[in-house]
Amino acid sequence: MAEDLSIIQGTKQEQYEALLPQVKALIEGEPDLVANLANICGALKEQFGWLWVGFYLVKPAATGEEELVLAPFQGPVACTRIKKGRGVCGAAWQKAETIIVPDVEKFPGHIACNTLSRSEIVVPIIANGEVKGVLDVDSVLLNDFDETDKKYLEEIVGWIRF
Ligand code: SME
Repeated sequence: MAEDLSIIQGTKQEQYEALLPQVKALIEGEPDLVANLANICGALKEQFGWLWVGFYLVKPAATGEEELVLAPFQGPVACTRIKKGRGVCGAAWQKAETIIVPDVEKFPGHIACNTLSRSEIVVPIIANGEVKGVLDVDSVLLNDFDETDKKYLEEIVGWIRF
C-alpha cells in the first residue's frame, strides 16, 4: 500500500474530514503502539504544518511516581519528562480533559520547550478510565486551536490501542 497522504486545502473542518479516514486506515489493524503514534504525528504535521505534534506517555519514573515521557513526535526537540500537574501536558493528565491554550504566555506554569510556540492544545489519551498519555500540539500562531481541533483530535486519540 502506498503510504502517501492526500493533503487538501479548505476549512479546518474540511481538512480534518479528509484526514481522519486516512489516519484510521494507517493505524487500523496495526497493533504496534509506537508505529501508530508515529504515523498520527506524521499525518497531522503534514496536513496542518504545526510547529510541534507529539505524544507523551505515562510511565513509571525512578522515584516510583509516574511521569509523562516523550514519545513519537514531529518538530523540534522537546523536554523529555513532565510531572503530573506541570505545564499544559501535566494539567491535561491531572484533569483527564483536553486543554486549549490560546496564548501560552498566559498559562501559569506553561513549559516552553520551544520559544516559537504561541498556542497549544493537549488531548489526554484515556483507556479503561485511565490517562495513558497525551497528544500535544503547538502552533507558532496565537489562538490557533478551537473546539473543532478538540473534537477531531479527541476522535483520533480514541483510536489508539495500548
Ligand atoms: N508546552 C508543554 C510542554 C511540551 S512541549 O510544548 C512539546 C507544556 O506546557 O506542558
